[in-house]
This record gives sequence, structure tokens and C-alpha cells, in this order.
Amino acid sequence: MNLGVCYFPEHWPRERWETDIQAMAEAGLEYVRMAEFSWAVMEPERGEFNFEWLDEVVELIREYDMQAVLCTPTATPPKWLVDEHPEIRQETFDGTTLEFGSRRHYCFNSDAYREETDRIITEMARRYADNPAVAGWQTDNEFGCHETVRCYCDDCEAAFREWLAEKYDSIEDLNESWGNRFWSQQYTSFDEIDAPGPTPDGHHPARLLEYARFSSDSVVDYNAFQADLLREINSDWFVTHNFMGHFSDLNAFDVSQDLELVAWDSYPTGFVQEMSPEEPTVDELRAGNPDQLGLNHDLYRSARDRPFWVMEQQPGDINWPAQGTQPADGAMRLWAHHASAHGADGVVYFRWRRCLEGQEQYHAGLRKQDGSPDRGYHDATQAASELADIGGEDGVGHVDTPVALLFDYDSCWALEDQPHAPDFDYWQLLESFHGALRARGVQVDVVPPSTDLEVYDAVVAPALHLVTDDVATRLEAYVAAGGELLLGPRTGVKDAYNKLRPKLQPGPLADLVGATVDQHDTLPEGIETTVSRVDSDETYAFRTWAEWLEADNAEPLLTYEMDGIEDGRTAAVRNTVGKGSVVYCGVWPEADLADDLVRPLLARAGVEYTERFPDGVRITHRDGRTWVTNFTSNAYRLETNVDADWIVGDDTLEAFDVAVADDELTGTVRVDRLET
Ligand code: GAL
Repeated sequence: MNLGVCYFPEHWPRERWETDIQAMAEAGLEYVRMAEFSWAVMEPERGEFNFEWLDEVVELIREYDMQAVLCTPTATPPKWLVDEHPEIRQETFDGTTLEFGSRRHYCFNSDAYREETDRIITEMARRYADNPAVAGWQTDNEFGCHETVRCYCDDCEAAFREWLAEKYDSIEDLNESWGNRFWSQQYTSFDEIDAPGPTPDGHHPARLLEYARFSSDSVVDYNAFQADLLREINSDWFVTHNFMGHFSDLNAFDVSQDLELVAWDSYPTGFVQEMSPEEPTVDELRAGNPDQLGLNHDLYRSARDRPFWVMEQQPGDINWPAQGTQPADGAMRLWAHHASAHGADGVVYFRWRRCLEGQEQYHAGLRKQDGSPDRGYHDATQAASELADIGGEDGVGHVDTPVALLFDYDSCWALEDQPHAPDFDYWQLLESFHGALRARGVQVDVVPPSTDLEVYDAVVAPALHLVTDDVATRLEAYVAAGGELLLGPRTGVKDAYNKLRPKLQPGPLADLVGATVDQHDTLPEGIETTVSRVDSDETYAFRTWAEWLEADNAEPLLTYEMDGIEDGRTAAVRNTVGKGSVVYCGVWPEADLADDLVRPLLARAGVEYTERFPDGVRITHRDGRTWVTNFTSNAYRLETNVDADWIVGDDTLEAFDVAVADDELTGTVRVDRLET
């Protein structure tokens, strides 16, 4: 496991550089990421290159036995470039052209910007081609941050038309596939199709889905363009990109095909404020939510089925969420361990030092603005020494994952366009199922539906809204061969063009499920939402979405038990097909119900699981070791019938603490809360 830090030497006087680099090495850091926003320093005027400062810092990094990760600086095209080529700027949905003065103001489909990209990358890459201190490159920075995947400029419009003309046999084919008879939306040629802009009522869902796909493909193509330029110059470098958490607009599986190393940026106290269904708890404001982070760790690990990096790890308080809370003591150490447990081989803190200038002055670093160590520096130093000891020279190995959670960007985009309930959120629905698995100590891969499912003992698909016939056939084969499948609500509704399927939901999966959906109902807060098990008195809460199922071959599992028209109807069914079985759950389960769906699934699939862990405390296995991470202010004791060999800490976890055992602790293991 390697720790590192993001450094902006250009913000600090030259005399300071060696002091900084030395302090990084003393903390046990091994990687320094640089240059993602420094185009204007490297090329202050067209063709006038200035790399001496970067040469000097890379040399210092080598002297102190660390390595540099350099970034292509394309997230911030300089003023002179924007003035020469104003057409490279993005246009928003409402037709506003983005101004210079921030970042990410360029369009992915601009030929002029591709030329500029080629020029700066080639210049930089040639300069460091033979420098052993440069380990690899990050392309750009957070593609799509600040809602910039989807651009609506003339270049994008032209590229969209080409993209469509290549995909569809004819304009008639497109009209038919989309269903353009509706509201007279037929086109007579591809040239008539605009990038979607403001309209009095909502846009055609097929057009929006295609624009989402096209926009994501545009970024995939731009990233591949950058990666190819780098590899042409030195094929030994790794090429990576820093994705974002809970980010929908960009298909990370597609982008990752052009990366050797997948990375993402983790800001736990920010995510929990911006992406949680409920107000965060005080503990969450201090340390975030381990399952929210875990879902992203699992997604980006699964994208290439290999260890990933956290390329930016929150170092302390941050500037962008509503509350700039101070993380708990030890949180910056806890996050590094938690990432390692989920399969990270690198955690790079963002950033070295709180900056004196620019937009992010209210953002901590590992050092304070006067250069002295901040809280994160102490945590990072401790994490570096602990993690260096785990796994020896070769690091920690593979994460074994018996369960796949299907993540489908097409379904996500379709549901974001038509949520049909104010609080329907694809990511949060996914979290409900993922969190239930994680509370039982099960490691999960987050993979697209096209993945080879045979390697998994169980598959969970929370909302496979768009199901192609091919995916349906593969799911049928998976179950028939003995797989255990759990499907969530809103599955099997649409075809590949975002059109309602004529066959009752779950459409092509109806035979497999042995039931169909008669009606769906959205339930605002305030309506009692309860289901009960058919085979016991147990009742459970659910939220937001209720489907009325008509069982055919399937056996009812849950029925609604609430006042009103739902009462007594079927909410979930189970069907045995071949050697396996499938459960279809027509509601969005709250935590207890999610557990009651997941536990029998694991048991049937023969997957070992633990006692149910309390919120905020998680047990995670990797390569024969066990991490117990406590994201709460309570103390806990771990109870296990094994005499564990502890590498970090022991069976008593203080607030926001971590313990690592050299054994795979599973089965009867649980935690008991200690009185403090
Ligand atoms: C990230 C970004 C960094 C910095 C950081 C602040 O999204 O990549 O450049 O802005 O957020 O938390």
C-alpha cells in the first residue's frame, strides 16, 4: 500500500521545495502528484515552455526516494489559449457559454482543443520520457466535475449527429427506435437533430438517453486520445484518471478500458452532506459513511478488477459542502485503512498545504498555511507506517468477492430523467442493497450487466430499469445453472431506447421471475409503508416505491400491510428456476428489510457472512486479513471465537478507530458496544 500527496510547488517559493519534499518522505509518503492545473506556468505564452521548476521538484522527489505522478494539465486551458480559440469553451443546456476564470471550461469535442491537448501533452511527456522518477500519469482532472460531461455547443451538436448516423441504419430507423410519433417529433434527416436545449415541457426520453450516452462516449474518446499520446512516448508508464464519488454522467467502466490504474477522489464529509437521503448524523459529519465510500471503492476496483487508488483523499476540513466540519481525530488514518480493505493499493492525500490564494483557501492540507503540520499530517504519518507493514514488499493481494452488484449507467441515466418520485435516486437505491451486504461483512463487486456472472455465487440487481434481451438471456442462464439472483424494483421496464416494453414489467425477465407487475405506486413521506412476510408475523418498513405483483409460478414472499389500496397485495416473490432461484422485490427496502432479503440470498448461495454489524462499523476482508473500521464515536469490542493475530490495534476499537487482523475473521464474529 502506497501513500502519497498532491503537491502544487508552483504555489510556493523555490526555497521551500526541499523542506516540503523532505517532510513528505519523513512522513512515509511515496508518491507526489503534480501539475494538473499548471498549464499557464508551464507555457505562459504560446510555444514558450517553462519546465525548469517541475524538473527541479521531480529531481528532489527522486533524491528522497519517492516517485512523481504527473498530470496532463488540460482541465485548465490558459487565458491566452481561450482568447485565441474562444470556440473551445463549453456551452450549457440553456445556451450559456462558459467564461474563463475557473476550470473545466473546455469542450471534449473541440478539434481545436484536441490539437492543443496533443501539443502540451507531447511536450510534457517527451520532457519526462526517460525520467525514472516519473511513475505514471493522470489524464486531466475529474472529467465531468461541475456538470461538464454534457456540453451543448455547435461542435457537440455536429458530433452528436455523426454519432447517431453511425449508430442507426437510417433516419426512419431512429424515428422508429425512439418512438418519435409522440408529439410529432419525427426527423427527416440526421442534420435536423440538435443537442437538447430548453423546451416548455420535458425532452423526449430516447433523445436524452442518447445524448447522455453520446456525451459519456465523447469523454471516453478524449481520455483515450490523451492515454495514447502518453503511451506512444513511454509505454512503461501507468495511465490513470481520478474519477469522482457517486458520479453518474460518465460511464467509468468505459473510460477505464483505456487506463492501467483506476483512481477516484474521496471526500467523506462532503459526500455525506451532498449525497445522503437523510440529514447526516454528527458522526457522519465527522467521518462520513463507510458504505457510501465502500460503494465507490468497490465500483472503481471492479472497473478493471484490480487494485485501485484513491487519488485525492480528504486531508481535513474542506471548502465545498455546506458545513466545513473538522473530521474526527484519526479520520484521515481511518479512511486510508478503509480504502486499503476495499482493495486500494494507493491513497494520495489532497493536498500538501493549505493554499494562500485562489478558490480553495478554505480547504485544509496535510500542512497548515504556515507550513507546520496539520491534523491530517499526523494521521497520514501513522497510516503510512501501519500500512507499510501490511502485506510486506508485494503489498496486499486480491479482494475475493462472492457477490456482484449490477450497476447500469443506462438505467441510471433513464431514471435520472424520469425518477417519477421526488426522492427516487439510483445511487441511494444501490446503497440500500450494497449497505445490507456490507453490514454482513460481505465483499461486493460493482459491475456492469455485461460482466461474466458465472464467477459469482450471488448477483444483486437493484434497478435494472433498461434490460436488453441479451442481458435477460444471460440472467436466465445464470439462475438456471445454480446462481442466486435478487432483483429490486423498477427492473425490466424499458428497452435499450428508453421505451416502455409492451410486455408487462419485468418484461423479458417475467418468465424468470414468475410474476409480473400489475401497478406501481409512488408513496410520499407521511404514508405508512409496511410489508409483512408471508411465512411469519415479521413486518418491515420500505420507502418511496411500491409495485403490486401478480405471481404466476413464483411464490409470494412479502405482502403489503398498510391502510389503503396496497393492503394485502404481493410486494415480493421468489421463483426457483433450474438449479437456482430469483427473488423480485417490488419495493425500496429500508435497512431491516434489505437485511432480510440479503441474508437468505447469501445462505442459499453458500456465501459466508457475519452477524449484522451496527451502522458505521464495518468488517472487511482482503487477502486473508480482516479490517474492522469504526466510523462512529462509540467504542466497540470485537467478539470472535478465533484467537486473532492483530497487526494493527486489537479487539477493542476506540472512537473512529481501526484494527487489522492477520486472519480472515468471519462467521460468528460481531461487535459489542462498550460503555464509555
Ligand atoms: C476535487 C478536485 C481538486 C480539489 C478538491 C477539493 O474535486 O479534483 O482539484 O478541487 O476537489 O476538495
